[in-house]
Amino acid sequence: MIFPIHKEEQDLLRMIGAVAGKLGSPAYLVGGYVRDKMLGRDTKDLDIVCLGSGIALAEHVADQLMPRPHVTVFRRFGTAMLHHQGRELEFVGARKESYREDSRKPAVEEGSLEDDQFRRDFTINALAISLNDADFGNLLDPFNGIAHLSEKILKTPMDPGKTFSDDPLRMMRAIRFATQLGFTIEEETLQAIGKYKERIRIISQERITTELNKILEAPTPSIGFRLLLDTGLLDLILPELVELKGVEFKEGIGHKDNFYHTLQVVDNLCKRSDDLWLRWAALLHDIAKPATKRFDPEVGWTFHGHDALGANMVGKIFRKMRLPLDHKLKFVQKMVRMHLRPISLTQEDITDSAVRRLLFDAGEDLESLLMLCEADITSKNPKKVSRYLDNYRHLRQKLDEVEESDRLRNWQPPVSGELIMASFGIGPCREVGLIKTRIREAILDGEIDNNLEAATRLMFSEGRKLGLIARQTPTNP
Ligand code: CTP
Repeated sequence: MIFPIHKEEQDLLRMIGAVAGKLGSPAYLVGGYVRDKMLGRDTKDLDIVCLGSGIALAEHVADQLMPRPHVTVFRRFGTAMLHHQGRELEFVGARKESYREDSRKPAVEEGSLEDDQFRRDFTINALAISLNDADFGNLLDPFNGIAHLSEKILKTPMDPGKTFSDDPLRMMRAIRFATQLGFTIEEETLQAIGKYKERIRIISQERITTELNKILEAPTPSIGFRLLLDTGLLDLILPELVELKGVEFKEGIGHKDNFYHTLQVVDNLCKRSDDLWLRWAALLHDIAKPATKRFDPEVGWTFHGHDALGANMVGKIFRKMRLPLDHKLKFVQKMVRMHLRPISLTQEDITDSAVRRLLFDAGEDLESLLMLCEADITSKNPKKVSRYLDNYRHLRQKLDEVEESDRLRNWQPPVSGELIMASFGIGPCREVGLIKTRIREAILDGEIDNNLEAATRLMFSEGRKLGLIARQTPTNP
C-alpha cells in the first residue's frame, strides 16, 4: 500500500481481493477513502468498485466475516453496503454512466475501471487501488489525481460542464472540498460552476443543505461562502445572505459591508466552537439588517430591531433549508434575538438587576451567547478590539459574581404554581400567574433573595393584596 494501513484493514482488503478473484470480478478501492488516506485523514468509509456485480461481491464478502453482517442492497443503483468493525463498506459494479438532462436518475451501463474513474466528480476522487492478488496495492491514477492532491487542486476528470450537468450537486461538493481541504478550484472548473449554476435547482434541498452544513463545519467557512457568492450559487440557495452585501453611502457616511462582516464573525467563532448550530447563528445573526436599515441624519445608519426580525427570518430560512425545526432552531433564534444584549451591558455602570436578567434569559446558553458576541467584534483597529474584549472580560466577571450569589443560570421558580394553589386553596387561575410573575420580577430586581423562604413570604403578601385567603400550610412562615 502506498499509505500506512492497519494490519486488520490490510487483511480485510486482501480477503475482499481474494473473493473478487474467485468471482472473476477484479476489485478496487476508490473515491474518498483513497483520497483521505493519501492526505493522512482518518476514514472508515470504504468504497469498492468491481468489474462485475457489486451486490454479488458484497454478499460473498459478508459470508467470510464473523459475525456475518447484514448486507443492504440498493438494487435500483446496483450497490450494496455492509458494516464491519466500525467500518462502512460500499460495493458497486464499475459503470459508464450517463444522465438524462432533466434528471439525476442514472441510466446505468457496465464499464471498465477507467470508465468508472472518468465519470467521477474530481480527479482526487478518481484514484483507485487494486485489491487483486496480481497487483495488490497498485495505484491507478489515469487523471493525475496524485499530482492534483499535492498541488491542492480540484479539477474534474472530464469536461467540467459535463461533470456538473450530470450531477449538479458536484458544484456544491467542489466548493465544500475547497473549504474542507483548503484546495483551489482549477479555473476552467470554477468557470463551469458559474455557467451551470442554474442546474442546482434540480437538486433536493436536503442534499444542498448537507453540503452547506459541511462548509459550516470546516475550519474556515468563509472560503466556501466567498466561492458560493462569486459563482452565483449563493443567490440561488441562500439569497438572504447575498442581500447583506454592499456598502451604501449617504451624506458621506457609509456602513460596513455586512456580508464580509458576517463571514468574519463565522470564522472568528469557528476558532472557538465546533457547535454547528452556533455557527448557523453566527451566519444569520445580522440577516435582518437589510430589512431594517434606515438613515438618520442625526446618528447615521441604524438597523433597529434587526435582532427580533432576524430571529423571525431564521425560522423561515430553517424551513426553506429543511433544517431541523426542533430545539436547534429555537437555539439559533435565541442567539440571533439576544446577540445585542451583552454589548449593552459592557458599559461601566452595569446594574446587578440587568446582569441578573441576562443570566435568567440566556440560561444555559450564556457561554454560547458570549462567544457569539466576542466573535462579533471585527474592527480592523487592534486597540478597539482589545478594548471591546476587555469590556466582555469585565462583563464575564460581573456575571460570575452575580451568578455565585444568586444562582440564576438555570433558574427554577422557588415557589411553584402547585404550591401557590395549595396555599390559597384555589385552582389554576389568573392570580397564580400574577403571583409567579411578581416573585420572578422581585428576584430579578434584587428586591428579595432567590430562595424559598423569601419567595413564600412574598407569595402570601401578594395573595392578600389580590384578595386571596391563605390556608394554614406547613410552608406558611
Ligand atoms: N461521487 C461523485 N459524484 C457525487 C458524489 C460522489 O462522483 N455527486 C464519487 C466520488 O468519486 C466520491 C465517491 O463517489 O469520492 C464517494 O462519494 P461520497 O462517499 O459521497 O463522498 P466522499 O468523496 O467519500 O467524501 P465525503 O465522505 O466527505 O462526502
